[in-house]
Amino acid sequence: MSDCDAQAAERRPPSLSTVEFQSAVTQSVANDSCPTNGCASDRDRVDVYLADPALATGETALAWLGLLSSTERARYDRFKVEGARREYLTGRALVRTTLSRHADCSPADWRFEANRYGRPAIAPDQAHAAPGLVFNLSHTRGLVALAIGRNCDLGVDVEWIDRQGRLADLCTRYFAPSETAFVHAAEDDELTDRFFTFWTLKEAYIKARGMGLALPLDGFAYDVSASEPTIRFEPTCPDDPSRWRFFARRIGASHRLALAMAVAGAGVVSVCFWQARPLVAKPEAFAEPAVRLAAPGAGTPSA
Ligand SMILES: CC(C)(COP(=O)(O)OP(=O)(O)OC[C@H]1O[C@@H](n2cnc3c(N)ncnc32)[C@H](O)[C@@H]1OP(=O)(O)O)[C@@H](O)C(=O)NCCC(=O)NCCS
Repeated sequence: MSDCDAQAAERRPPSLSTVEFQSAVTQSVANDSCPTNGCASDRDRVDVYLADPALATGETALAWLGLLSSTERARYDRFKVEGARREYLTGRALVRTTLSRHADCSPADWRFEANRYGRPAIAPDQAHAAPGLVFNLSHTRGLVALAIGRNCDLGVDVEWIDRQGRLADLCTRYFAPSETAFVHAAEDDELTDRFFTFWTLKEAYIKARGMGLALPLDGFAYDVSASEPTIRFEPTCPDDPSRWRFFARRIGASHRLALAMAVAGAGVVSVCFWQARPLVAKPEAFAEPAVRLAAPGAGTPSA
């Protein structure tokens, strides 16, 4: 595959589905309504790219390794567990190739700097190539997700739904009392679902703030009983709920995803989901029907 083929493939991802939502009103829009020519150039738009780390083998893995900086390569080499190594490589390839869809910079040329809490961002001296472009990455067993937007605070989290864990106990340790009560009121699959809904939402928020676990996890509480999650802040974590928008859903049978974003203004923000196959010539639509999204509360996802 030539570089040109790869670049062309990168610019033609299949649309999975689209969600639009406002602070107060959630609206669903038809599938495939996202324009196919670049996405995050739109101010009120966030794109979420999903990739399968199982792709990180053979020639694909070799091609992706060629994109890494020496620092990234050294980190890759330090992974002992194959699954984690593939997730890391997939994340790096996804970030680099996807940013290059939105800015005039080759995938291998991007440089990143982390803030004091470890959040990576485009290096300041490359910011001119991609004004306002922000991203956040999450990886878990079997899934890597990258959210890209402009001029917003943005956090994404994906989790593999591990039904074997002692979830009820973990709530008590990490969640706000109201969240714990909501999880404990459910049983079996419903308990699992509520647990991972809160978990991913809480991760998405602390990642959007760029502070990770420096923020107290019980310093804010979600209410997910309505169609859209809402948030309440305690004095230990002062913030303005009205600037935040959240979205949470399943990805297939085994994963949950949540997105947190703070944008200026009250306009609609479109969230588009894409299946990504970095440097692979022929992208295919994500096979899982469950990634065809409807907005929370909008009823049955459109097929
Ligand atoms: C590091 C942390 C920000 C995310 O950890 P995580 O959920 O294990 O990992 P994810 O896969 O979702 O995200 C990792 C990516 O986030 C990015 N990241 C790292 N630090 C970040 C920060 N402070 N803010 C935002 N993003 C960050 C990086 O891109 C990283 O991937 P990379 O190292 O391959 O580049 C932090 O929240 C953490 O340590 N969490 C531990 C899990 C936990 O206890 N959660 C409780 C939830 S209730």
